[in-house]
Amino acid sequence: MRLFFALWPPREAAEALHAWAMQARQSTGGRVTRADAIHLTLAFLGETGPARAEAALAAAKRVRAIRTKLPIEQAACWKHNRVVWVGPRETDPSLADALRAELHGEGFTFETRPFKAHVTLIRKAGSGSLPALPPVDWPVRSFVLVHSELSAKGSAYRVLQEFPLG
Ligand code: 2AM
Repeated sequence: MRLFFALWPPREAAEALHAWAMQARQSTGGRVTRADAIHLTLAFLGETGPARAEAALAAAKRVRAIRTKLPIEQAACWKHNRVVWVGPRETDPSLADALRAELHGEGFTFETRPFKAHVTLIRKAGSGSLPALPPVDWPVRSFVLVHSELSAKGSAYRVLQEFPLG
């Protein structure tokens, strides 16, 4: 199973971001993330067998973090991977760090690059001017473990478990 931990937006926030991305695509081109697939990855586990998945669940249950909001303050285009993303101006690494520390304790390893909070909205994007962002209310009350299935149509995501924050 290909697994990752993520923040999932409420439906209204996802729809506002999707609508923005459809508008942005008029100048950048590329493939827009479906509204129901919009998320922010906290920790990517990749291919994971059943025993390791259990270990990941145990790690996630130990995470203690407070509820917060995800500020959607900037939109940008990464040239190296041709992705248009939105996210906070400054990454608050506390939840991702707490989760990764627990996962590390279970033997999971992660790239050493610092975590950069981003929500991918367009892939295979060209350069182009991006429209102003709408106000987006993304309360962070939980994080989720997600199963990702790759197919010719793209990735299909299924939330396996939700972990509430305090
Ligand atoms: P991306 O949006 O920056 O591409 C499901 O594929 C999620 O996991 C996506 O949010 C993706 O981030 C992230 N992801 C995919 N492969 C990854 C990797 N090797 N390392 C870190 N994150 C990855």
